[in-house]
Amino acid sequence: MKEKADALHKEFLDRLAGLSDTQALENLRVEFLGKKGKITQLMGELRGVSAEEKKAAGLLVNNLKNAVQDRLKERVDELSAAAFDAMVSESRAYEEALLIAPARGSFHPITLMQRTCEEIFRSMGFTIEEYPEIVDDFNCFQALNIPEFHPARDMQDTYYLDNGQLLKTHTSAAQNSIMRKYGSPLRAVFPGRCFRNEAVDASHENTFFQMEGMMIDRDISIANLIYFMKTMLSEVFLRDVTVRLRPGFFPFVEPGFELDIRCLICGGGGCPSCKHAGWLELCPCGMIHPKVLEYGGIDPEENSGFAFGLGLTRLAMMKYGVKDIRTFNSCNLKALSQFANA
Ligand code: FA5
Repeated sequence: MKEKADALHKEFLDRLAGLSDTQALENLRVEFLGKKGKITQLMGELRGVSAEEKKAAGLLVNNLKNAVQDRLKERVDELSAAAFDAMVSESRAYEEALLIAPARGSFHPITLMQRTCEEIFRSMGFTIEEYPEIVDDFNCFQALNIPEFHPARDMQDTYYLDNGQLLKTHTSAAQNSIMRKYGSPLRAVFPGRCFRNEAVDASHENTFFQMEGMMIDRDISIANLIYFMKTMLSEVFLRDVTVRLRPGFFPFVEPGFELDIRCLICGGGGCPSCKHAGWLELCPCGMIHPKVLEYGGIDPEENSGFAFGLGLTRLAMMKYGVKDIRTFNSCNLKALSQFANA
């Protein structure tokens, strides 16, 4: 019995010396102390030992069991302490690296795009306005010549609050209050987050940004509208981009246009980003409807103006070559931090 116990102890110590992870230690414990373990089996052999020898043999096997248990526990403690030390020195090294070269944050690409556009319009005499994200039905629809039950509302279903207010579906919701704030003449742009109950895909989000613009004065015409749109696009892209203007219906402009950009992801051949059309709707616009001017307290007999609703998020897609609009709201730092120096 003694030779067997000594041999098992030696085998255990030899095996233990080569192990350095906790799972291997657990396997060794089961192999020696588990239900069918080697030491457990040796205990079973005590049944066959004579009565005189039983006490000494029992003590021997028990001592072996305790020694193995203690050594295993010591080794687990040693490994945990080593893992803790490694973790501490790793995090110290990380902190030191941060002190030497602190990680730099960066602006979100949509913020960069918004600031670029603000700068362009500011340089052309436009003021930059802010407007809340929670609006009322009057400002979002009625003041824009979209009465209750008008079919144009179907395109802009959104999220409603219990008190009847809603998350704004377009930046046009600020038109009325800005007209009332400044009267005529006015030049203003107002960026903002918009919300729609959308079937989300590569070019449609339920939360996206627009930048609205309005210019009102005496004798403002479509020529002024086209001039400002062209200037804005050439300043944003700093290269030739192909755009097209086609008729578009919005109850708050007359006439109304859709300004599309040839898709810069596929070059116009068709891809998921442009829904395989080769063109992307970017900036609907038009001459402000006389009724909307009147709602804003501006005399349509004396004044005229244009308005546009630039899709800022889509503009950022085109500018930075982002194929899928969902990247912007993804919180994926690997994707978003690429714009740190944009
Ligand atoms: C409007 O929102 C009008 N208020 C624009 C307007 C303003 C027209 C002033 C005339 C005068 P529309 O729903 O088409 O129109 O949206 C305008 C732009 O916002 C689109 O061309 C597109 O670039 C962007 N846009 C619209 N819906 C989404 C969406 N779900 N995800 C991302 N961008 C969108």
